[in-house]
Amino acid sequence: MPGKVILGAQWGDEGKGKFIDIFAGKADLVVRSQGGNNAGHTVVVGEETYKLQLIPSGILYPNCVNVIGPGVVVDPRAILKEIDGLAEKGVSTEKLYIDARCHCILPWHLELDALSEKARGGDDIGTTKKGIGPTYMDKAERIGVRMHDFVGERFEEAMREACARKNKVISGVYGGELIDIQAVLDEYRGYAERLRPFVRDTSVITYDAVKSGKEVLFEGAQGTLLDLDMGTYPYVTSSHPVSGGCCIGSGVGPTAIDSVIGICKSYTTRVGKGPFPTELFDETGDYIRGAGGEFGTVTGRPRRTGWFDAVIARYAVRVNGLTDLVINKIDPLRGLPTLKVCVGYRFKGETLTEFPADFADLAHCEPIYEEFEGFSEDITACRTWDELPAAVRHYIQELERIVGCPITMLGVGPARDQVMTIK
Ligand code: GDP
Ligand code: IMO
Ligand code: MG
Repeated sequence: MPGKVILGAQWGDEGKGKFIDIFAGKADLVVRSQGGNNAGHTVVVGEETYKLQLIPSGILYPNCVNVIGPGVVVDPRAILKEIDGLAEKGVSTEKLYIDARCHCILPWHLELDALSEKARGGDDIGTTKKGIGPTYMDKAERIGVRMHDFVGERFEEAMREACARKNKVISGVYGGELIDIQAVLDEYRGYAERLRPFVRDTSVITYDAVKSGKEVLFEGAQGTLLDLDMGTYPYVTSSHPVSGGCCIGSGVGPTAIDSVIGICKSYTTRVGKGPFPTELFDETGDYIRGAGGEFGTVTGRPRRTGWFDAVIARYAVRVNGLTDLVINKIDPLRGLPTLKVCVGYRFKGETLTEFPADFADLAHCEPIYEEFEGFSEDITACRTWDELPAAVRHYIQELERIVGCPITMLGVGPARDQVMTIK
């Protein structure tokens, strides 16, 4: 079975884009199965930096088929902007397919994301305001506009119906301004025309690739702790970034998958609100943020930063069935005299080694740390295990021991070649 899942094992932004791009060099098909343009996946090739939001990170290889699976929510305006941006850089989207079942993110979803966040006052989620939650809400309520409607004959009827329904919520619940459907139709009709050639039943394309033994990559977006069920609810996204979500969201069964690779950074970051036990509020946190360039790809927000949390990593191993763990972004830790790893939490006088289900408990968990020697060498040119300083090798070996999953690759810089395979 040729299917590989690559997913985020923390709170997103682990560097999934870089690893998908690397693996895509040998892949036949890359499929996204959840989320939308709340994702921001950075791929650095030579002097060029690509920030992909909806389009799979395999797009930079002309022979790779790129699929946006049925579980993804697609903003027509945003995806066309991304397609145009890639075309300007000479990247073809000829082998890009969007599933007919994808739900569309429409202007009322963007409006409702902003209104609902505002209405929560100081208790907002800190969403990316891309309309993700409201679109998945409509999907669950069975009133959404799917791609086959959007590019098909029902375009106007479906759009008018959805807008009328949502205008009642916008004005009745939030006292917001009504959306002018005629203006939306005038703008979006052109988007529908342009997107029509991309729309397919992609579950057939993905299945055929799997069945004929082709190399298929399932590209995770967000991260395990942002999963709607398994994450730090309610400070999560509205889809399923865990490995199980790949099957539902791409329309193929679990037998299509034979490895699940979880990407972690050598420290932890989070954007948006919610509990974060190892968060650093001191100059060490500022140092890591600066060294790692931890500012949101989508929103530009500074990312909250903290030490590596092995409780989270062990949880990610368990709920995703990880076969491999990748430790990315080790280089930003350079210059710190001591590296700390959270091995458990102290909660109400007890030691917890499992991640709690209730985020309110997590907010009261105090990290228990093990400490390791830091390193001062520049490791960005290292390409083999033996080239790494002894302190880095020791840190990685200890992480593997504490987390209990084989660490098979390391990342030492943003570029495609700044990685090493260690097993
Ligand atoms: P994704 O959402 O998981 O694809 O990750 P993002 O692209 O949002 O964030 C990762 C950031 O770290 C990007 O700016 C990458 O260019 C950068 N990056 C990736 N790997 C490394 C690495 O090993 N070292 C450093 N210093 N930066 C990296
Ligand atoms: P990638 O794929 C990090 C976070 C938001 C917010 C919460 C809900 O680049 O790793 P949403 O707009 O999805 O309703 O916001 O989820 N979030 C991410 N954080 N990386 C991401 O994607 C994220 N996508 C959503 O910051 O806390
Ligand atoms: Mg990102």
